[in-house]
Parts: sequence; structure tokens; C-alpha cells
Amino acid sequence: MNTREYHQANRMAWNEAAAQYERDEQERTEYLRKGGKNLMEPELRLLTDLDQWCKRAIHLQCAGGTDTLSLWNHGAHEVIGIDISDRMIGVAERKTVALDAPARWYRCDILDTPAELNGTADLVYTGRGALNWLNDLDAWADVILRLLKPGGLLFVFEGHPMANIWSMESPELRLDPDPRYGNYFHEGAIEDTSGWPTVYIPADVVPPVEQQAKKYEHLWTMGHILTALAQSGLQLERLEEYPLLYWDGLKNLPPEIRDKLPNTFTLMMRKP
Ligand SMILES: C[S@@+](CC[C@H](N)C(=O)[O-])C[C@H]1O[C@@H](n2cnc3c(N)ncnc32)[C@H](O)[C@@H]1O
Repeated sequence: MNTREYHQANRMAWNEAAAQYERDEQERTEYLRKGGKNLMEPELRLLTDLDQWCKRAIHLQCAGGTDTLSLWNHGAHEVIGIDISDRMIGVAERKTVALDAPARWYRCDILDTPAELNGTADLVYTGRGALNWLNDLDAWADVILRLLKPGGLLFVFEGHPMANIWSMESPELRLDPDPRYGNYFHEGAIEDTSGWPTVYIPADVVPPVEQQAKKYEHLWTMGHILTALAQSGLQLERLEEYPLLYWDGLKNLPPEIRDKLPNTFTLMMRKP
């Protein structure tokens, strides 16, 4: 399979998972209507004064648009979301109509983000379970470079590559028993037929595991991520690592262990 084929297979899988985002849609819309921001502490601390410098934010892998529209609530004048899932973009579009928000959505592989957006973003934002779905980080980095204005900022808040290797939902720290996941240096696409983690997508909204679409993930190392972006021409401003979790994947680990691990990171890079 080539990169586009892996991504199209993931489109099918995400169309199934989108059922959970449809279930949350009304609640999330009301949250946003009240000015809610689904942003975490590092994002709120590091992404400041958007109203003064961010005319357009482009969110790659925007899912149902809650985080994208949170950037609008946080000060971005206009937000644009790109996602490969038809149903996710449907959720985002309905929220936009309900909120009369200055938002636009494109359903496409991020690698096919339309050229009409080139050089228009003050901010490209992505993360929280995004990079592991991509098969080609060099192509990803090139898309970011072409979307940013000169001087524009890339902001990634993402699961730390180290956090992917642990056994999920285990009360003890141990490597994932699947040798592909339990290896920081695993290379190549991982075909996953084990179904969605139920802490994220409850079993009652998706088909039975054996009927679900196959998913293809990649375990990118920190070296892969930084090198792809640096080689595209972006300049490093900040890399922070935290024990903070952005989802419940390692929630059963005792806090005294979990809080000593790198679970998330923020990466800020700028287009010269
Ligand atoms: C975990 S979600 C992103 C996190 C998001 N902040 C949220 O609200 O959950 C991953 C998203 O990436 C999208 N996606 C996966 N591969 C993609 C690709 N090649 N191009 C665009 N979107 C993609 C999926 O459809 C899904 O909506």
C-alpha cells in the first residue's frame, strides 16, 4: 500500500469513530457557545494574544472541529479545519452553522490541502492524536511550510512518542505486549485490527471489532518529527515535554509513575 492508500483506509476507520463525535455534538456546541476552549494548559500558556496576530488559523486533522473552534474562542479571527473523515467534517460544519462562526472546513487528506490556502496561515495547529495516522512526515512538513505565511507559527501539542509504547490501561508500567507498539524504534505502518480503545470510542457506537475498518498507524520518534520539520525549512522556537495526559490511555498507571514519564509535548516552529 502507498501513503494515499493507508490514509484512505484510515478515512473509513475514522468515519466509524466519528459516531462518538456525533453523539457529543450538541454538548460540544453548547460548550463552545458559552465561550468554552477545549485547550490544555500548555496551549493556553503558550498560545497567547491570538486576537492581535492570528487572522487565520489552519487546524490539520481537526476531527469534529471543537478544538478548531476553541481557537476562535481563544482569539483567532478565522479558523479553517482539514480532516479526511466525511462524518467528522459534517460534525464541524453543523457546529459552525449553529454558532455562526467564521470557520471553513475541507474534507481531504491533509497531504491534499488545497493550494488556495498556501501562504495564508498565521498559525498552523495540530496534534492530540494526529501524527500517528500519517504515513509520510516529510510530506506533512511540506504542507505546513506551504500553508504558513512568512513569520507564521506551527504549534503542535501531541502525545509524546514515548507514550505510545506502554501497555494501555495497564495498572503497571510495561511495554505494550504487541511487539510493534512496544518498541520505540518500530518502523513502518502498523495494521491495527484490535478495535478502538473503549476509553476513547465506546464499543456501542462502532461496529463489532471484527467488522471495523482496518487502521494504519505509525510510531514516529521525536527525531523523525523534528527532522522532517527542520528539513522543510521551519525553525525551532520551543520544545517542551510534560507528564500531562490529553486522553485516558494511561489512566490506570499510578500517578507516582505516570507523572515521571513524558506523555505529551509542545513543539513551536516558525517559517522564516
Ligand atoms: C484523534 S483525532 C485528532 C484530535 C482532535 N483534536 C480531536 O478532537 O479528537 C485524529 C483525526 O485525524 C484525522 N485524520 C487521520 N488521517 C488523516 C489524514 N491523512 N488527513 C486528514 N485527516 C486525517 C481523522 O479523521 C481524525 O479526525
